Amino acid sequence: MTSEMPTSSGQDTTPHHSRRDFLRSAATATAGFSLLGGLTFAGAKAAAKATATSGSKGSAPQDESGEITFGIVTDLHHGLAPDATQRLQAFMEAVDEHEDLAFIAQLGDFCHPTADARDFVSLFDQFPGRKVHVLGNHDMDKGTKSETMRHWGMESRFGSFDAGDFHFVVLDLNNIRQVEGDKANYTHYDNANFYIDAELRGWADPEQLAWLVDDLAAANKQTIVFSHQPLGFSGPDQPLHQRQQEVLDILYAANREARRTNPDAGQKVVACLSGHLHVDRHERHNEVHCLSVNSASYHWAGGMHPYADPLFCFVTINPAGRIYIRGQHSEFTNAHPWQQGLAMNTAGVTASISDRAVVYRREG
Ligand SMILES: [Fe+2]
Repeated sequence: MTSEMPTSSGQDTTPHHSRRDFLRSAATATAGFSLLGGLTFAGAKAAAKATATSGSKGSAPQDESGEITFGIVTDLHHGLAPDATQRLQAFMEAVDEHEDLAFIAQLGDFCHPTADARDFVSLFDQFPGRKVHVLGNHDMDKGTKSETMRHWGMESRFGSFDAGDFHFVVLDLNNIRQVEGDKANYTHYDNANFYIDAELRGWADPEQLAWLVDDLAAANKQTIVFSHQPLGFSGPDQPLHQRQQEVLDILYAANREARRTNPDAGQKVVACLSGHLHVDRHERHNEVHCLSVNSASYHWAGGMHPYADPLFCFVTINPAGRIYIRGQHSEFTNAHPWQQGLAMNTAGVTASISDRAVVYRREG
């Protein structure tokens, strides 16, 4: 991997701002607070190192129960979906209707690092609280990973932060893995270099996996993992791919270790949320809830099948062991792909994000 890529974890200490009519007032369109704060990209590694050791805690609002809520949107595909900006606008208006969101997150395939996407990023940045970016493959269609991160104000391609009583991990699975003999080489996605054999794409690099082990060992809060590429999903009757399994195995090991050291402790890693597939699915592997969050814009099967309304969801997580997902429900603008004989072997093809209530093992 290139040495200049920042890789450390970190947390920001952004204070939460109360709800504002930020969409209607240019005056509130203030500078955003990205995953790791507002420093320049070049200084990210040092900054991340500093914040990671500061012991800073998330400032997410929570009620007496410790419950927090955050907003999720994914796969807007600005530059491909013709109305991506209006769809993001709809998400931001829904965000504005929520009091005290802990943060908002986009799970990748957001936009290219190009001038025509500047206003799109600014729209997302109008949220006055914490904003979380996850890199998706198409975000490197027209630029390097570094350029995309700079465009978004994202300072570390992976990392973690705390919000309320919960820990959140952001992964970057946009890496090519090529094996030569007994050696595996990893390359960042960069200007569409990843349109190659699918087996080579979507891997976490060893540096990131080692960091994940350490981050989870240090975390003492229940944890949710964000990635663009799926974790916990495969085709019908197919095992999970090794690139997913090697990440999940780290999550399982963290859960086993937490339980070994304190049998009464709650489940440490409780959920993984991902995008990329443009489907609405839920699976559970070794207690970990895996959610495939549907695209805001469309399903792809032999072409674009737009959703009549923008899709996004709000997730509430409660220390009592419950996760609630409140999604958006729409329909295809044309016939369902299945009615057209398309995507017949693909699970979760729907123009909705389902409402779900799931439980995880809590303390005691
Ligand atoms: Fe996508």
